Amino acid sequence: MTTLLTYGAFDLFHIGHVKLLSRFAEMADEVIVGCSSDEFNALKGKTCIMPYEDRANILRACRFVSHVFAEHNWGQKRSDVIEFNADMFAMGADWEGKFDELSDLCDVVYLSHTEGVSTTKLKRRVLHRTPGLRMVG
Ligand code: CTP
Repeated sequence: MTTLLTYGAFDLFHIGHVKLLSRFAEMADEVIVGCSSDEFNALKGKTCIMPYEDRANILRACRFVSHVFAEHNWGQKRSDVIEFNADMFAMGADWEGKFDELSDLCDVVYLSHTEGVSTTKLKRRVLHRTPGLRMVG
């Protein structure tokens, strides 16, 4: 049984998220997702459109995902890898190199990014079409 651990906000769940999670599911028996809590996002200066419970439940409804839990701070990844007995820590390529320090505990991999889509780009497109709205986070 192999376990892969990944993290993200997964706000406005989009095709880049689906493609990444489907590739993770091909790499491991279990894909566990740490979804950033609203409090953690606030700490990072990030504002999600969807609250944590919605983002987490959408992830739970995705067939590539086995388990979802809340990420509350930058420091918990190391203890999560140990707690979940993860074989792999995996992120999209926009995080390349950022979590290499976990490689003493498990394999650390970065998969190529889906070009042309992101939560930020989706928010910009909505704003562009809706005069009067302001960009947040
Ligand atoms: N991701 C991806 N391809 C994309 C967008 C995101 O593979 N086009 C990956 C990220 O690398 C990350 C995971 O999806 O491992 C969750 O990313 P998240 O930050 O929630 O999504 P983004 O669309 O990148 O959000 P934002 O624009 O707010 O940074």
